[in-house]
Amino acid sequence: MEPEIRIVTNDEDLAREAASEFVHRAKEAVRTKGLFTVALSGGSTPRSLYSLLVGDVSLRARLPWEKTHFFWGDERHVPLDHADSNYRMTNEAMLSKAPIPAGNVHRIESELPDAHEGARKYEQTLHDFFQQTPRFDLVLLGMGPDGHTASLFPGTDALSERQHLVVANWVEKLKEYRITLTLPVLNNAACVVFLVSGAEKAETLRAVLEKEAGPVRFPSQLIHPTKGSLIWLVSSEAAILLPKTLKNLKSAER
Ligand code: 6PG
Repeated sequence: MEPEIRIVTNDEDLAREAASEFVHRAKEAVRTKGLFTVALSGGSTPRSLYSLLVGDVSLRARLPWEKTHFFWGDERHVPLDHADSNYRMTNEAMLSKAPIPAGNVHRIESELPDAHEGARKYEQTLHDFFQQTPRFDLVLLGMGPDGHTASLFPGTDALSERQHLVVANWVEKLKEYRITLTLPVLNNAACVVFLVSGAEKAETLRAVLEKEAGPVRFPSQLIHPTKGSLIWLVSSEAAILLPKTLKNLKSAER
């Protein structure tokens, strides 16, 4: 299935389009299965989405919080209160402000001294919850200027992991471990939504969507759900180098 590319004007519209998709997927999952499972992205782009979901009266009222189970696509190997913690960012922006049962938050234990143990425990959490290879109703992803997504960085071991659901991935250029979902999980999702904003990502986004240079160089090229949809929500400045052929004419209505 070809990815859908939705180009929105600015970061505010990106958050609003993402929030609309998030609520739609949540309501549909709860209607059909009685619960909604989502793997959240870290980084800075999704913060405004998370804030909007709890801050917008209509969105907040429509989201089935008590039936939503929150997971993470990746985490930095830092304590929960560290400035780089994805959990901390999502908790500050959303989780601490929403009526979510404690049992619905399934975080990565990034504070453990051994990142591999953190990965193993998170993998067990996934096994216990899903009983099989997880099929998230929604996976939110970002993309770095180097083409990484989740913590699948160019040239790192995690790119080739096909057995484990979660690994501790050494990222040489950052000189740190990251704990990340692997492709067997990411590509088993019912829906993956990339949120990409910023002119600094325009060249990489073009290379990723045009499948240039291959997935070891641009790991975001590895994301294509086998039985699910792939949506790229892109700000106009990040999309500026995309050829007309790639731009889905259905640019998101506001
Ligand atoms: C992380 C994310 C990472 C992020 C990209 C984009 O832990 O940082 O999982 O993949 O989505 O680096 O980050 P920005 O949204 O900050 O540009």
